[in-house]
Amino acid sequence: MRKMILASSNPHKLREFREILEPLGWEVISQKDAGIDVDPEENGSTFAENSAIKARAVYEIARTAVIADDSGLEVDALGGEPGVYSARYGGTRDDKAHNALVLDKLRSVPDEKRTARFVAAITYIDESGKESSFIGKFEGRIGYEERGKNGFGYDPIFMVGDISSAELSPDEKNAVSHRGKALRALAEYLSADKEENRC
Ligand code: IMP
Repeated sequence: MRKMILASSNPHKLREFREILEPLGWEVISQKDAGIDVDPEENGSTFAENSAIKARAVYEIARTAVIADDSGLEVDALGGEPGVYSARYGGTRDDKAHNALVLDKLRSVPDEKRTARFVAAITYIDESGKESSFIGKFEGRIGYEERGKNGFGYDPIFMVGDISSAELSPDEKNAVSHRGKALRALAEYLSADKEENRC
């Protein structure tokens, strides 16, 4: 099995990456389990830049295959905010406070202008240092109150038709989500790579 390091120690992300990449013959280990203690400043202006910053920091130390992701919510009526600041929007890391802030800022915004999307970028760096990026988008609208108990972050206020993404089951969300799409694009790339490298 080929090994790659996930430039994150988030167990939720580790599980999602393993589910898709292990069947392709990849063992995915967390940065922590690889003994790498690095936490670079995510000062890029796009999700792709930030995922590349995280992947490069780990690659510089490990010199082996690495993947990293970065994601967040873009609200059109807020000019794309919270964007790359999604995890620390309004100067806090509290999900409830993030959701309250977005709902408050959109108080007088009509339905048709409440369009939004989740975006996920994944950067893969292979053993030789070659970088590839993948983007996935998940379109929806901002609702008027929190709904649902599944998911995390902005899911309770992100509406997909009549329900929020916190009302989707994990499988239903994976099938349509930004991270699911970016991960499947990466998986497709790695499968093609595997074919190319066959003796
Ligand atoms: P990061 O990718 O770990 O930097 O997380 C970015 C932030 O974006 C998270 O803390 C969440 O607030 C938000 N986010 C990213 N993906 C999702 C999602 O699928 N649902 C809800 N919130 C998300």
